[in-house]
Amino acid sequence: MAKKIIATGYGDPADVLAVTDVDVPSPGPTDVVVAVRAAGLNPYDVKLVRGVMGTKPEKLPLSLGAEVAGVVHAAGAESGYRAGDEVVVYPAAAALAEYVLADADRVHRKPADLGFAEASSLLLAGVTAVDTLATLGVTGDDVLLVHGGAGAVGSIVVSEAVAAGATVIATASDRNHDHLRESGAVPVAYGEGLAEAITEARDGKRVTGVIDTVGTDEAIDVSLDLVAPHRIVSVAAWGRVDDGIVVVDGSSEQSRHHRRAAVEPLLEDAASGRITVDIARTFGFDDAAEAFDELLGAHPRGKYVFEPK
Ligand SMILES: NC(=O)c1ccc[n+]([C@@H]2O[C@H](COP(=O)([O-])OP(=O)(O)OC[C@H]3O[C@@H](n4cnc5c(N)ncnc54)[C@H](OP(=O)(O)O)[C@@H]3O)[C@@H](O)[C@H]2O)c1
Repeated sequence: MAKKIIATGYGDPADVLAVTDVDVPSPGPTDVVVAVRAAGLNPYDVKLVRGVMGTKPEKLPLSLGAEVAGVVHAAGAESGYRAGDEVVVYPAAAALAEYVLADADRVHRKPADLGFAEASSLLLAGVTAVDTLATLGVTGDDVLLVHGGAGAVGSIVVSEAVAAGATVIATASDRNHDHLRESGAVPVAYGEGLAEAITEARDGKRVTGVIDTVGTDEAIDVSLDLVAPHRIVSVAAWGRVDDGIVVVDGSSEQSRHHRRAAVEPLLEDAASGRITVDIARTFGFDDAAEAFDELLGAHPRGKYVFEPK
């Protein structure tokens, strides 16, 4: 038997998260069973548990966790993998567990130079960041405003846009401004005075595009004063689609294409150190509810990583 985290209902993680015993999965011919070393926690997992994405009773109990890194435990004859291979699974299902079953087309070889924790927490945010940049078509000529530039998605947006030569202005809490400066962005504080702070930061230049990873009305309103709606690409402002902004989530063919194409380059860039994945906290079966609780609030910069021991 093996352990797995589930949600038995929708609501406060402390009330609904549970650890259950399940059989270790057996692989079909094209499947791989991975012994989990680390799994990345994402806001999506927390929103799922809290019922933000819907509260259908028939979906209970919920399995959680969409990305994982580990070691192949058993592999189907047609999977192309062997026991002992170090891999990353993305997109994964039910990753907050000791073992994960995945079709081989979702399995990627983990670069030897990339740690398990970092590998487990790179791809969901990374492919999303690359999708926003590709959708907006960011080039070195752009003056880009990034809302949430110190978050998991935002920090990869910032580093890729800076690497492309763009001028980047990014919002974050004061405690993250040094990090943004080190990444090559001009930091601004969100909240009261945001519009004035952006005016000062752009220093007479015209903002040519916006990537929003926050989704607040404040972020969208200030952006609509700077650029045409189609130059605003968001991953979170679902309530503002009627304003003509572009929201991406991997559901369109173009968005899927951007995300698929981003996986291998992201793994290479993280292994070479061109992209860094900072870890804020690791947690296990016993303190999962606490980690879930922290992630949607004001939390330290970096990823929350599940380690099943
Ligand atoms: N559509 C998609 O495909 C997709 C994919 C991945 C994620 N997402 C969504 O994208 C969002 C970000 O995900 P993430 O993994 O990057 O989360 P994260 O690492 O927790 O980052 C959240 C960021 O939001 C900033 N923030 C918090 N409150 C804010 C406010 N009121 N105004 C401005 N910024 C604020 C934080 O800044 P400070 O810490 O500096 O305060 C932090 O940088 C989530 O809503 C997630 O569900 C969507």
